[in-house]
Amino acid sequence: MSDLKNLTLSLQDGILTITIDRESQLNALNHDTLSELKETFQSIYDDKDIKGVILTGAGEKAFVAGADIKEFAEVNDVNGRKFSESGQEIFDLIENCHAPVIAAVNGFALGGGCELAMACHMRLASANAKFGQPEVNLGIIPGYGGTQRLTQLVGKGKALELMMTADMINAEEARELGLVNHVFLDKATLLEKAHEMLAKIAGKAPIAIGLVVDCVNAVYNKEENGYQTEANAFARCCGTEDFKEGAAAFVEKRKANFKGQ
Ligand code: COA
Repeated sequence: MSDLKNLTLSLQDGILTITIDRESQLNALNHDTLSELKETFQSIYDDKDIKGVILTGAGEKAFVAGADIKEFAEVNDVNGRKFSESGQEIFDLIENCHAPVIAAVNGFALGGGCELAMACHMRLASANAKFGQPEVNLGIIPGYGGTQRLTQLVGKGKALELMMTADMINAEEARELGLVNHVFLDKATLLEKAHEMLAKIAGKAPIAIGLVVDCVNAVYNKEENGYQTEANAFARCCGTEDFKEGAAAFVEKRKANFKGQ
């Protein structure tokens, strides 16, 4: 991986923590940060040793306060589609990653920050987290998949309300809406719990975990028959060594030792 300037990476027990590290700008997603995220996730796809990913923001104040508004001067009706599609492509990469990805949301997750958190498989938050899609304040709409994923997560009525009013909601409200899975007291506990959850998942059969991602994502792909995707994925699991190992371990009353094969 080339030198990263806007992300810091740390690997512990197969769990990679990616910290978006532009604290003075509330970790806003500028072009370079997005490129680095793309490169990092592409390399995760090729690395079987990474069992899980935590995505978080540097400092106590923000996860990510949005796309970098200071770069908006260069965006117009000609390159706007490309701006949106290239962000969508990166967020799709996160959503389709076979290693589980948890957004550990500390502080503001606004605009592209909320969209980034929604592209992750699960969202854990600290009590000071704040979520919102304030794009209409700037004369735009969410463009990194937010109109779709927010609706998937909270339903049409609430998604429209949040995107039309640009209101921010706190961590507890986000949890009640289903936007957040769990809320923890502070950032340290949040990161510890995210790690714990990924360590638990790392003990399961990796091929099965990756196929759960594919099948759940199939629900939202209009061109795909999710039941067929599920049956195909199930059949694939049945041909793995891990399936034999899991069933044998149950019968022998021992812990399964999965190898991802
Ligand atoms: N893009 C670029 N810079 C951003 C940013 C963004 N999305 N969000 C915050 N920043 C920068 C500020 O410009 C400021 O930088 P500066 O010190 O160089 O001027 C720094 O981060 C601190 O932000 P500041 O606004 O001073 O903090 P605050 O505590 O007063 O307010 C927010 C925090 C999150 C409410 C406010 O920064 C904000 O509204 N940000 C934009 C949110 C948004 O609209 N996101 C969607 C973009 S599509």
